[in-house]
Amino acid sequence: MYAFQPQGNELTCDGVALSAIAASVGTPTYVYSAATLRERIAALHAAFGDYPHALHYALKANSNLAVVRVVRAAGGLVDANSGGEIEVALRAGCTPADIVFTGVGKTPAEIDRAVALGVKTINAESAGELERIAAAARARGSVARVALRVNPDIASESHPHISTGLGTHKFGVPITEARAIARDAGARPELKFVGVHVHIGSQMLGLEPLRRAATAVVGLAQELRDDGVHVEHLDLGGGLGIAYDGETVPPADSYAAALVTIVRPSGLTLIVEPGRAVAGPAGALLASVVDIKPRGDGTQFVVLDAGMSELLRPALYGAYHRIEAVTARDGAPVTCDVVGPICESSDVFGVNRSLPAPAVGTVLAVLDAGAYGSAMSSNYNRHALPAEVMVDEGAWRVVRRRQTIAEQLVCEE
Ligand code: LLP
Repeated sequence: MYAFQPQGNELTCDGVALSAIAASVGTPTYVYSAATLRERIAALHAAFGDYPHALHYALKANSNLAVVRVVRAAGGLVDANSGGEIEVALRAGCTPADIVFTGVGKTPAEIDRAVALGVKTINAESAGELERIAAAARARGSVARVALRVNPDIASESHPHISTGLGTHKFGVPITEARAIARDAGARPELKFVGVHVHIGSQMLGLEPLRRAATAVVGLAQELRDDGVHVEHLDLGGGLGIAYDGETVPPADSYAAALVTIVRPSGLTLIVEPGRAVAGPAGALLASVVDIKPRGDGTQFVVLDAGMSELLRPALYGAYHRIEAVTARDGAPVTCDVVGPICESSDVFGVNRSLPAPAVGTVLAVLDAGAYGSAMSSNYNRHALPAEVMVDEGAWRVVRRRQTIAEQLVCEE
């Protein structure tokens, strides 16, 4: 069930009034539903059924420690995209065997850390990176488990900024070159070649691009087996979209069935790396109205205390997020542009929205902000990183307190 539902006059997160959280913690504040995180992991697990699979939650979507702990306890493993995310995973209770390490541009220190830990798989991005992983393993007298990320030159049909699988994108090696690169890797004593990795985009609303990518990597895996290269798994990345604005989204069952149908004949274990589909609907950003600016045409600017520094998606991708008052208000709805306080004209959360009589002090909830919300927040205009709250079983607690200006400056003095 969707976590953010009205009860009487109050918009709640799993029955807890958001107005009470805002009154206690202040705004801007992210609120997460532990129940939703668990439900999303459980639904994906159930959808893959008894086909051998592993769910590696993409930490880039939201790596708040409490979020990761809930995901891990629900049976989610992790996909880390940086050394920092690896450390968060360990702190949250993951073992190295729970971690796949992905990412364009891994530094020598990150590679060495992943090799030293012995993570489940390093998803290598290039022939050069495979060499550097091998060198790090040799220096440590160990063997690193690696997969090769391929670029299948397939359009995701999503927003251009969050598409990653075209030949023009920086990700992976061209699939046409993958066979030779994997064969070389498979022959290196310091590497254990275990799989093929692909991720073609995010917020995908159709399954066809995912089917095409899966078909391409199944074909490559067969070629590698023909060459005598050992393959254990196919990692098909993330990408499953969510409904920000009532869009039709493939349910977990259809998503899993589409992938399993293609992978099953290979018998290979299936790894997926969902980020948004797990965390997106689990979070909302609470923000307070700090000013109302009439525009002369009957419409208004509604200015919030949160902007692109707290939630970058609208400014960066023109992304749509529903915006609702946390307490029902009397009075006629007004048409307004909901904007942030940042000194940028792109700092707009919503255009031509209808809100019930917003006033200074009104608290609004920006919905479906659990993924790529807090994770992409910044100190721009010296905003503090926002507070974060976890709602669990009718109770709530602060899982990140609001940053202070002293904490921002401590690295500068
Ligand atoms: N695996 C890899 C290798 C990825 O690059 C990504 C996302 C994921 C998994 C998780 O994808 P998801 O299931 O969340 O679609 N900041 C953007 C999204 C960027 C996604 C980048 N890669 C946004 O706010 O829409």
